Amino acid sequence: MEYKNKLVLAPMVRVGTLPLRLLAAEYGADITYGEEIIDHKIIKCERRINEVIGSTDIVEKGTGNIVFRTCHEERSRVIFQMGTSDAVRALTAAQIVCKDVAAVDINMGCPKSFSISGGMGAALLAKPELVHDILTTLKRNLDTPVTCKIRLLKSSQDTVELARRIEKTGVSALAVHGRRVADRPRDPAKWSEIADVVAALSIPVIANGDVFEYEDFQRIKVATGASSVMAARGALWNVSVFSPHGKVPWEDVKREYVRKSILWDNDVKSTKHTLKEMIMHYSCLELPEGKAVIKSETLADLAHLYGEEKYCKFVNENRWLCSGIR
Ligand SMILES: Cc1cc2nc3c(=O)[nH]c(=O)nc-3n(C[C@H](O)[C@H](O)[C@H](O)COP(=O)(O)O)c2cc1C
Repeated sequence: MEYKNKLVLAPMVRVGTLPLRLLAAEYGADITYGEEIIDHKIIKCERRINEVIGSTDIVEKGTGNIVFRTCHEERSRVIFQMGTSDAVRALTAAQIVCKDVAAVDINMGCPKSFSISGGMGAALLAKPELVHDILTTLKRNLDTPVTCKIRLLKSSQDTVELARRIEKTGVSALAVHGRRVADRPRDPAKWSEIADVVAALSIPVIANGDVFEYEDFQRIKVATGASSVMAARGALWNVSVFSPHGKVPWEDVKREYVRKSILWDNDVKSTKHTLKEMIMHYSCLELPEGKAVIKSETLADLAHLYGEEKYCKFVNENRWLCSGIR
Protein backbone atom coordinates (compact mmCIF):
# COMPACT_ATOMS: atom_id res chain seq x y z
CA MET A 1 0.00 0.00 0.00
CA GLU A 2 1.17 3.52 -0.74
CA TYR A 3 1.06 6.11 2.04
CA LYS A 4 0.99 9.20 -0.12
CA ASN A 5 -2.06 11.47 -0.35
CA LYS A 6 -4.13 9.32 1.93
CA LEU A 7 -6.93 10.18 4.35
CA VAL A 8 -6.55 8.00 7.39
CA LEU A 9 -8.87 6.85 10.16
CA ALA A 10 -6.79 6.95 13.37
CA PRO A 11 -6.53 4.02 15.77
CA MET A 12 -9.14 4.35 18.53
CA VAL A 13 -9.62 1.89 21.37
CA ARG A 14 -13.13 0.37 21.51
CA VAL A 15 -14.14 2.55 18.58
CA GLY A 16 -12.04 1.43 15.63
CA THR A 17 -13.74 -1.91 15.13
CA LEU A 18 -14.91 -3.23 11.76
CA PRO A 19 -18.21 -1.25 11.41
CA LEU A 20 -16.59 2.16 11.91
CA ARG A 21 -13.65 1.25 9.69
CA LEU A 22 -15.94 0.18 6.85
CA LEU A 23 -18.13 3.24 7.25
CA ALA A 24 -15.08 5.53 7.26
CA ALA A 25 -13.92 3.91 4.02
CA GLU A 26 -17.36 4.32 2.44
CA TYR A 27 -17.23 8.04 3.17
CA GLY A 28 -13.70 8.42 1.79
CA ALA A 29 -11.00 7.16 4.17
CA ASP A 30 -8.21 5.41 2.25
CA ILE A 31 -6.51 3.77 5.24
CA THR A 32 -8.27 2.61 8.40
CA TYR A 33 -6.42 1.67 11.60
CA GLY A 34 -7.89 -0.81 14.03
CA GLU A 35 -8.00 -0.14 17.74
CA GLU A 36 -4.80 -0.89 19.64
CA ILE A 37 -4.67 -4.49 20.80
CA ILE A 38 -2.01 -5.68 23.22
CA ASP A 39 0.34 -8.43 22.02
CA HIS A 40 -0.30 -10.52 25.17
CA LYS A 41 -3.93 -10.78 24.11
CA ILE A 42 -3.20 -11.73 20.49
CA ILE A 43 -0.79 -14.52 21.34
CA LYS A 44 -3.61 -16.31 23.16
CA CYS A 45 -5.67 -16.27 19.95
CA GLU A 46 -6.19 -18.23 16.79
CA ARG A 47 -7.43 -17.18 13.37
CA ARG A 48 -10.87 -18.39 12.34
CA ILE A 49 -12.97 -17.81 9.25
CA ASN A 50 -16.58 -17.04 10.14
CA GLU A 51 -18.48 -18.18 7.08
CA VAL A 52 -21.83 -17.05 8.41
CA ILE A 53 -20.77 -13.43 8.91
CA GLY A 54 -18.19 -13.45 6.10
CA SER A 55 -15.45 -12.26 8.43
CA THR A 56 -11.99 -13.34 9.52
CA ASP A 57 -11.78 -13.41 13.29
CA ILE A 58 -8.87 -13.49 15.71
CA VAL A 59 -10.43 -15.40 18.55
CA GLU A 60 -9.21 -16.07 22.09
CA LYS A 61 -8.69 -19.79 22.54
CA GLY A 62 -10.83 -21.20 25.31
CA THR A 63 -13.22 -18.28 25.75
CA GLY A 64 -14.08 -17.78 22.06
CA ASN A 65 -13.95 -13.99 22.58
CA ILE A 66 -13.41 -12.12 19.33
CA VAL A 67 -10.36 -9.94 19.80
CA PHE A 68 -10.15 -8.64 16.22
CA ARG A 69 -12.66 -8.96 13.38
CA THR A 70 -11.81 -8.05 9.81
CA CYS A 71 -12.97 -8.98 6.31
CA HIS A 72 -11.60 -9.39 2.83
CA GLU A 73 -13.09 -6.07 1.70
CA GLU A 74 -10.75 -4.07 3.96
CA ARG A 75 -7.68 -6.28 3.54
CA SER A 76 -5.82 -3.72 1.41
CA ARG A 77 -6.39 -0.74 3.74
CA VAL A 78 -6.68 -1.96 7.34
CA ILE A 79 -3.70 -1.41 9.62
CA PHE A 80 -3.52 -3.59 12.68
CA GLN A 81 -2.21 -1.59 15.63
CA MET A 82 -0.45 -3.39 18.42
CA GLY A 83 0.72 -2.46 21.91
CA THR A 84 3.97 -4.15 22.84
CA SER A 85 7.15 -3.87 24.87
CA ASP A 86 8.96 -6.91 23.51
CA ALA A 87 10.22 -7.75 20.02
CA VAL A 88 9.70 -11.51 20.13
CA ARG A 89 6.20 -11.25 21.59
CA ALA A 90 5.33 -8.57 19.03
CA LEU A 91 6.48 -10.85 16.23
CA THR A 92 4.54 -13.84 17.56
CA ALA A 93 1.41 -11.71 17.74
CA ALA A 94 1.95 -10.09 14.34
CA GLN A 95 2.33 -13.49 12.68
CA ILE A 96 -1.21 -14.39 13.76
CA VAL A 97 -2.80 -11.37 12.04
CA CYS A 98 -0.41 -10.30 9.30
CA LYS A 99 -1.95 -12.24 6.40
CA ASP A 100 -5.26 -10.46 6.83
CA VAL A 101 -4.10 -6.85 7.08
CA ALA A 102 -2.31 -4.26 4.96
CA ALA A 103 0.25 -3.38 7.65
CA VAL A 104 1.16 -3.92 11.27
CA ASP A 105 1.60 -0.76 13.36
CA ILE A 106 3.29 -0.33 16.70
CA ASN A 107 1.70 2.17 19.08
CA MET A 108 4.39 4.37 20.61
CA GLY A 109 2.12 7.17 21.70
CA CYS A 110 -0.38 5.92 24.24
CA PRO A 111 0.01 7.94 27.46
CA LYS A 112 -2.36 5.80 29.60
CA SER A 113 -0.85 4.41 32.78
CA PHE A 114 -1.79 0.85 31.76
CA SER A 115 0.42 1.16 28.67
CA ILE A 116 3.26 3.06 30.30
CA SER A 117 3.49 0.76 33.31
CA GLY A 118 3.70 -2.21 30.93
CA GLY A 119 6.55 -0.52 29.06
CA MET A 120 4.27 -0.03 26.02
CA GLY A 121 2.88 2.99 24.18
CA ALA A 122 4.60 6.26 25.02
CA ALA A 123 7.05 4.43 27.32
CA LEU A 124 8.80 3.31 24.12
CA LEU A 125 9.60 6.92 23.19
CA ALA A 126 12.27 6.90 25.88
CA LYS A 127 13.73 3.56 24.72
CA PRO A 128 15.14 3.98 21.21
CA GLU A 129 17.10 0.70 21.45
CA LEU A 130 13.95 -1.24 22.18
CA VAL A 131 12.08 0.60 19.42
CA HIS A 132 14.84 -0.41 17.02
CA ASP A 133 14.73 -4.01 18.25
CA ILE A 134 10.94 -4.31 17.87
CA LEU A 135 10.75 -2.69 14.44
CA THR A 136 13.73 -4.51 12.92
CA THR A 137 12.51 -7.85 14.26
CA LEU A 138 9.13 -7.29 12.62
CA LYS A 139 10.67 -5.98 9.39
CA ARG A 140 13.06 -8.93 9.04
CA ASN A 141 10.49 -11.61 9.71
CA LEU A 142 7.26 -10.35 8.15
CA ASP A 143 6.29 -9.86 4.52
CA THR A 144 3.63 -7.42 5.68
CA PRO A 145 4.63 -3.73 5.86
CA VAL A 146 5.37 -2.29 9.29
CA THR A 147 4.50 1.23 10.45
CA CYS A 148 4.50 3.05 13.76
CA LYS A 149 2.80 5.95 15.49
CA ILE A 150 4.57 8.32 17.86
CA ARG A 151 3.89 11.49 19.82
CA LEU A 152 6.18 14.51 20.06
CA LEU A 153 9.14 14.32 22.43
CA LYS A 154 10.13 17.18 24.70
CA SER A 155 11.99 19.04 21.95
CA SER A 156 11.56 19.01 18.21
CA GLN A 157 15.19 17.93 17.92
CA ASP A 158 14.54 14.86 20.07
CA THR A 159 11.47 13.94 18.01
CA VAL A 160 13.43 14.24 14.77
CA GLU A 161 16.27 12.13 16.18
CA LEU A 162 13.88 9.34 17.16
CA ALA A 163 12.03 9.60 13.84
CA ARG A 164 15.33 9.21 11.97
CA ARG A 165 16.15 6.07 13.97
CA ILE A 166 12.72 4.71 13.22
CA GLU A 167 13.11 5.44 9.51
CA LYS A 168 16.37 3.46 9.45
CA THR A 169 14.54 0.31 10.57
CA GLY A 170 12.76 0.23 7.21
CA VAL A 171 9.22 1.04 8.29
CA SER A 172 6.90 2.04 5.47
CA ALA A 173 5.41 5.12 7.16
CA LEU A 174 5.44 7.03 10.42
CA ALA A 175 2.35 8.61 11.96
CA VAL A 176 3.08 11.60 14.19
CA HIS A 177 0.51 12.82 16.70
CA GLY A 178 1.41 16.47 17.25
CA ARG A 179 1.16 16.46 21.03
CA ARG A 180 3.54 15.56 23.84
CA VAL A 181 2.70 12.88 26.39
CA ALA A 182 1.73 15.47 29.00
CA ASP A 183 -0.52 17.46 26.62
CA ARG A 184 -4.28 17.21 27.00
CA PRO A 185 -6.51 16.56 23.99
CA ARG A 186 -7.80 20.16 24.20
CA ASP A 187 -4.26 21.56 23.84
CA PRO A 188 -3.72 22.51 20.20
CA ALA A 189 -1.70 20.02 18.18
CA LYS A 190 1.71 21.39 17.21
CA TRP A 191 1.65 21.10 13.45
CA SER A 192 4.98 22.96 13.14
CA GLU A 193 6.75 20.17 15.04
CA ILE A 194 5.21 17.58 12.73
CA ALA A 195 6.64 19.68 9.87
CA ASP A 196 10.13 19.30 11.38
CA VAL A 197 9.79 15.51 11.21
CA VAL A 198 8.47 15.63 7.65
CA ALA A 199 11.44 17.78 6.59
CA ALA A 200 13.93 15.32 8.11
CA LEU A 201 12.55 12.06 6.67
CA SER A 202 12.20 10.48 3.25
CA ILE A 203 9.49 7.98 4.17
CA PRO A 204 5.84 9.13 4.19
CA VAL A 205 4.75 10.85 7.39
CA ILE A 206 1.11 10.74 8.43
CA ALA A 207 0.22 13.98 10.24
CA ASN A 208 -2.23 13.69 13.12
CA GLY A 209 -3.93 16.22 15.40
CA ASP A 210 -6.97 18.50 15.27
CA VAL A 211 -8.53 17.52 11.97
CA PHE A 212 -12.24 18.12 12.46
CA GLU A 213 -13.46 19.25 9.03
CA TYR A 214 -12.71 18.03 5.52
CA GLU A 215 -10.88 21.29 4.82
CA ASP A 216 -8.53 20.58 7.75
CA PHE A 217 -7.01 17.66 5.81
CA GLN A 218 -5.64 20.15 3.30
CA ARG A 219 -4.71 22.72 5.99
CA ILE A 220 -2.57 20.27 7.97
CA LYS A 221 -0.99 18.96 4.78
CA VAL A 222 0.04 22.43 3.74
CA ALA A 223 1.23 23.34 7.25
CA THR A 224 3.30 20.19 7.74
CA GLY A 225 4.19 19.06 4.23
CA ALA A 226 3.06 15.57 5.30
CA SER A 227 2.15 12.93 2.73
CA SER A 228 -1.02 11.80 4.46
CA VAL A 229 -3.35 12.92 7.21
CA MET A 230 -5.01 11.08 10.08
CA ALA A 231 -8.17 12.03 12.02
CA ALA A 232 -9.36 10.58 15.33
CA ARG A 233 -11.93 12.67 17.23
CA GLY A 234 -13.19 14.39 14.09
CA ALA A 235 -14.00 10.93 12.71
CA LEU A 236 -15.41 9.62 15.96
CA TRP A 237 -17.87 12.51 16.18
CA ASN A 238 -18.91 12.31 12.54
CA VAL A 239 -17.12 9.71 10.46
CA SER A 240 -18.35 11.34 7.23
CA VAL A 241 -15.60 13.95 7.85
CA PHE A 242 -13.74 11.95 5.17
CA SER A 243 -16.32 12.82 2.52
CA PRO A 244 -15.31 15.41 -0.09
CA HIS A 245 -19.02 16.15 -0.51
CA GLY A 246 -19.41 17.54 3.01
CA LYS A 247 -20.56 15.94 6.24
CA VAL A 248 -23.62 13.71 6.24
CA PRO A 249 -26.21 14.62 8.91
CA TRP A 250 -25.23 13.13 12.25
CA GLU A 251 -28.54 11.25 12.63
CA ASP A 252 -27.88 9.41 9.34
CA VAL A 253 -24.31 8.57 10.35
CA LYS A 254 -25.48 6.99 13.62
CA ARG A 255 -28.09 4.91 11.77
CA GLU A 256 -25.53 3.75 9.20
CA TYR A 257 -23.17 2.86 12.03
CA VAL A 258 -25.84 0.78 13.75
CA ARG A 259 -26.62 -0.99 10.44
CA LYS A 260 -22.94 -1.85 9.93
CA SER A 261 -22.73 -3.09 13.52
CA ILE A 262 -25.69 -5.38 12.89
CA LEU A 263 -24.35 -6.62 9.55
CA TRP A 264 -20.98 -7.53 11.05
CA ASP A 265 -22.39 -8.64 14.41
CA ASN A 266 -20.15 -6.19 16.24
CA ASP A 267 -19.66 -6.55 19.98
CA VAL A 268 -22.61 -4.66 21.47
CA LYS A 269 -20.40 -3.08 24.15
CA SER A 270 -18.17 -1.57 21.48
CA THR A 271 -21.17 -0.32 19.46
CA LYS A 272 -22.70 1.24 22.59
CA HIS A 273 -19.40 2.83 23.58
CA THR A 274 -18.97 4.41 20.14
CA LEU A 275 -22.57 5.70 20.06
CA LYS A 276 -22.12 7.16 23.55
CA GLU A 277 -18.96 8.98 22.45
CA MET A 278 -20.84 10.39 19.43
CA ILE A 279 -23.79 11.47 21.58
CA MET A 280 -21.63 13.03 24.31
CA HIS A 281 -20.04 15.32 21.76
CA TYR A 282 -23.18 16.70 20.14
CA SER A 283 -25.75 16.16 22.86
CA CYS A 284 -25.84 14.64 26.34
CA LEU A 285 -26.16 11.15 27.75
CA GLU A 286 -28.86 12.35 30.20
CA LEU A 287 -31.31 12.94 27.33
CA PRO A 288 -33.65 10.10 26.22
CA GLU A 289 -31.44 8.88 23.35
CA GLY A 290 -28.35 8.63 25.56
CA LYS A 291 -30.28 6.88 28.33
CA ALA A 292 -31.75 4.41 25.84
CA VAL A 293 -28.30 3.60 24.42
CA ILE A 294 -26.99 2.97 27.93
CA LYS A 295 -29.95 0.68 28.70
CA SER A 296 -29.63 -1.32 25.47
CA GLU A 297 -28.38 -4.85 25.96
CA THR A 298 -28.32 -6.17 22.42
CA LEU A 299 -27.85 -4.98 18.86
CA ALA A 300 -31.58 -5.64 18.40
CA ASP A 301 -32.29 -3.09 21.17
CA LEU A 302 -30.12 -0.55 19.32
CA ALA A 303 -31.83 -1.42 16.02
CA HIS A 304 -35.16 -0.67 17.69
CA LEU A 305 -33.86 2.64 19.06
CA TYR A 306 -32.63 3.81 15.65
CA GLY A 307 -35.60 2.49 13.62
CA GLU A 308 -33.62 -0.34 12.04
CA GLU A 309 -35.69 -3.31 13.28
CA LYS A 310 -36.60 -4.47 9.76
CA TYR A 311 -32.97 -4.35 8.66
CA CYS A 312 -31.88 -6.24 11.79
CA LYS A 313 -34.54 -8.93 11.24
CA PHE A 314 -33.63 -9.26 7.56
CA VAL A 315 -29.91 -9.62 8.29
CA ASN A 316 -30.45 -12.15 11.05
CA GLU A 317 -32.81 -14.24 8.94
CA ASN A 318 -30.60 -14.08 5.84
CA ARG A 319 -27.05 -14.28 7.17
CA TRP A 320 -25.84 -16.54 4.35
CA LEU A 321 -27.34 -14.27 1.73
CA CYS A 322 -25.91 -11.15 3.38
CA SER A 323 -22.38 -12.50 3.54
CA GLY A 324 -22.68 -13.68 -0.09
CA ILE A 325 -23.78 -10.35 -1.53
CA ARG A 326 -21.32 -8.18 0.29
C1 LIG B 1 -11.45 7.42 21.79
C2 LIG B 1 -9.99 7.45 21.41
C3 LIG B 1 -9.25 6.28 21.42
C4 LIG B 1 -7.91 6.29 21.04
N1 LIG B 1 -7.22 5.11 20.96
C5 LIG B 1 -5.97 5.09 20.41
C6 LIG B 1 -5.31 3.87 20.12
O1 LIG B 1 -5.85 2.78 20.30
N2 LIG B 1 -4.06 3.94 19.59
C7 LIG B 1 -3.42 5.13 19.32
O2 LIG B 1 -2.29 5.13 18.81
N3 LIG B 1 -4.04 6.30 19.59
C8 LIG B 1 -5.29 6.31 20.10
N4 LIG B 1 -5.94 7.50 20.27
C9 LIG B 1 -5.26 8.75 19.86
C10 LIG B 1 -5.65 9.09 18.42
O3 LIG B 1 -5.31 8.07 17.49
C11 LIG B 1 -5.03 10.42 17.97
O4 LIG B 1 -3.63 10.27 17.96
C12 LIG B 1 -5.40 11.59 18.88
O5 LIG B 1 -6.77 11.56 19.26
C13 LIG B 1 -5.13 12.92 18.15
O6 LIG B 1 -5.92 13.03 16.99
P1 LIG B 1 -7.20 14.02 16.92
O7 LIG B 1 -6.72 15.37 17.32
O8 LIG B 1 -7.65 13.90 15.48
O9 LIG B 1 -8.21 13.48 17.90
C14 LIG B 1 -7.28 7.51 20.68
C15 LIG B 1 -8.03 8.70 20.71
C16 LIG B 1 -9.36 8.68 21.04
C17 LIG B 1 -10.15 9.97 21.02
